[in-house]
Amino acid sequence: MRIAVIPGDGIGKEVTAEAVKVLEAAAAVCGDRFDLQTLPWSADHYLSTGVAMPPNGIAMLRDDFQGVLLGALGDPRVPDNAHIRPILLGIRFELDLYVNYRPVRLLDDRLCPLKDRTTADVNFVVFRENTEGAYVGVGGRFKAGTTDEIAVQEEINTFKGVNRIIRHAFEYARARGLRKVCMADKSNAMVQGHALWLRLFREVAAEYPDIEPTHMYVDALAMFMVKDPGLFQVIVTNNMFGDIITDIGGALQGGLGMAASGNIHPGRTSLFEPVHGSAPPLAGKNVANPMGAMLSASLLLETLGKRDASQLIERAVEAAVKANQTTPDIGGTLGTKEVGDWVAGNIKGQG
Ligand code: NAD
Ligand code: IPM
Ligand code: MN
Repeated sequence: MRIAVIPGDGIGKEVTAEAVKVLEAAAAVCGDRFDLQTLPWSADHYLSTGVAMPPNGIAMLRDDFQGVLLGALGDPRVPDNAHIRPILLGIRFELDLYVNYRPVRLLDDRLCPLKDRTTADVNFVVFRENTEGAYVGVGGRFKAGTTDEIAVQEEINTFKGVNRIIRHAFEYARARGLRKVCMADKSNAMVQGHALWLRLFREVAAEYPDIEPTHMYVDALAMFMVKDPGLFQVIVTNNMFGDIITDIGGALQGGLGMAASGNIHPGRTSLFEPVHGSAPPLAGKNVANPMGAMLSASLLLETLGKRDASQLIERAVEAAVKANQTTPDIGGTLGTKEVGDWVAGNIKGQG
């Protein structure tokens, strides 16, 4: 299997190196063979060549690779971070990776920022719509730069897009025997676009009588995620709300460095990345937590049907947390690389 690796910018490069280290360790133990190819698409590449990626970049990912592992993109030297849109949003949109799968699972009680909450309370998944909503870039500016400026940024919600992500959430719940799906929108204020979400949520939910549907406005959902995260099993929401609430989800897991994600079109080349960004203040210091990136590599393996290798990584990351072999953001004293060595060593020990 061929995997494209896009380390990207800042701590993305550092955490991806460790994710690759543990992926290779797990593959070796399981006898899986991967051909990893690193692609240089990043701020450095953009600043030196003037292009974010080659014109055939997306087609190459689709045709030549079974999966993509990405670190993070974002660099203060690039005006408006102009390279992020073609690379990250370009891949999500053009490969039609409509499922942004962001599990929120606390690995150890010690990491929970909430009083009296345990691993039993923080264990749900968020399905973020990943191909439309507020991210489509439709709109424009009139009289830009003047005191009469008008800025329009449209939010696009389609039957196809909303229907397929809501159905995906219910199918995921049913396949795992989960009993609750919560949909979050702002249909009280966004009375056009989000009415479509509410209508489709009700229609799809009616086809799943075994699952209890709950609807929340996203402001209330944000509150309940912190007050009582045990309420949730599966959350489905739009592109922007999903972005925001999964940073809260990151905090519930101990910090953004712990959170993993998959950008998935079932059956097609999909992209896996930690939820966090390039964290410029941490870059180049060997302090970034690589666990979100490692758990993203685990999701990649799971999606490619490499269940044993996937679980080896998950168990090893959990063991590192339990043994406090971690970076300082979650209470340890190790560097990024040393966490990678420990987790890779644990994987080899499991083999
Ligand atoms: P960020 O996620 O990069 O960092 C926010 C803060 O979270 C950091 O300052 C740090 O305190 C903490 N943090 C994040 N990752 C961590 C890790 N692995 N280990 C320890 N601590 C960690 O968010 P930001 O500062 O808003 O964005 C920085 C850049 O990254 C911006 O250019 C932004 O556009 C970009 N970004 C990219 C992605 C992506 O590529 N998918 C995601 C989010 C942000
Ligand atoms: C994420 C990031 C991206 C998003 C940015 C970098 C465009 O925050 O993957 O969560 O908003 O989707
Ligand atoms: Mn985000």
